[in-house]
Amino acid sequence: MKLIYNLALACLLALSLAGCKKSDENAAAADTIKIGEYASLTGKEATFGTSSHNGTQQAIDEINAGGGVLGKKLVLITEDTQSKPGEPATVVRKLIFRDKVVALLGEVASSRSLEAAPVCQQNKIPMISPSSTNPKVTEIGDFIFRVCFIDPFQGTVMADFTAKTLNAKRVAIFTDVKSDYSKGLAKFFKERHLANGGTITAEQDYSGGDKDFKAQLTAIKATNPEAVFVPGYYTEAGLIAQQARQLDFKVPLLGGDGWESSKLLEIGREAMEGHYFSTHYAPEVASPLSKAFVENYKKRFKETPDALAANGYDSALLLVDAIKRAGSTDGQKVRDALAATKNFEAVAGKITINAKRDADKSAVVLQVKDGQFKYLQTIAP
Ligand code: PHE
Repeated sequence: MKLIYNLALACLLALSLAGCKKSDENAAAADTIKIGEYASLTGKEATFGTSSHNGTQQAIDEINAGGGVLGKKLVLITEDTQSKPGEPATVVRKLIFRDKVVALLGEVASSRSLEAAPVCQQNKIPMISPSSTNPKVTEIGDFIFRVCFIDPFQGTVMADFTAKTLNAKRVAIFTDVKSDYSKGLAKFFKERHLANGGTITAEQDYSGGDKDFKAQLTAIKATNPEAVFVPGYYTEAGLIAQQARQLDFKVPLLGGDGWESSKLLEIGREAMEGHYFSTHYAPEVASPLSKAFVENYKKRFKETPDALAANGYDSALLLVDAIKRAGSTDGQKVRDALAATKNFEAVAGKITINAKRDADKSAVVLQVKDGQFKYLQTIAP
């Protein structure tokens, strides 16, 4: 009898403790605003997700240190997409249904943003991509935004650079057919290059993940181009530069923001020297806001922030500014506030969200020089 009594007491105690825990959790949840992030923290484009996440986390922590927003602290819940197709939609569903986030920040790679954006759109959860530049991303719907420029502009920048700065007319294009980003950027570059009076000597393809590019490079070399446009990501761009060098094929290689990674230099090493790419931001051309960002980032992460870190930081700033202006975390209200963003002072330049929910912003052109990225020029839209 005594035993049963004790057991019953123990059960009661356990139940009430569980109850307490639950109400504590609810109280904590009521004091916080949950923001979801999905990023390639591991896998083939791990540096993209890691840099973007570091910048995003830094912004969230700074906002919390300044008191948060709407009297609440922010909690950033991050899921890893592992640089793999299939993961983005899965983890974004988790963030929306399990964690009940009020908005989503991500992804960097356009193909992965394109996969998760429909989930956000259907559930009326605003999504801001920090760095996806393919135009189709925001075309998914009116809850999808980005804080960066798009590839029709980036393609123009590199085609004009080819014509005006390099004086190159005969150019080959080497595209990753598995990447929406690569295919889009190749197309926009080509259109502008032809409009500038240039010719395309060869168009070759590879598939992201390939290791051997020699057959295509040999075919490209045979057409005798003055430069090769390689609108891919850093892993393949580094290998392509290496193998071009091995084939004694020494023309300038040109890329877009997908080259932006310290790993580009680790993989391509001295074969990367002299090549050019366009991207979103260079720490050398800093506003007072970006100077503070660079200093704080260096202190915390022991490295100079790249464009992805800057865009990640800006995506969080922009979201929080919209929540503040909306006075609410309601999806529709935050969406409306995001759409109304004008001249917002951010680290990688001022952000005005245009009618297509993209940001009109400048691009920079960098060159690999002495094993580093050297800033060459800024091109306004
Ligand atoms: N713009 C690329 C894409 O859309 C991603 C990227 C942005 C990569 C910036 C590096 C730097 O897929």
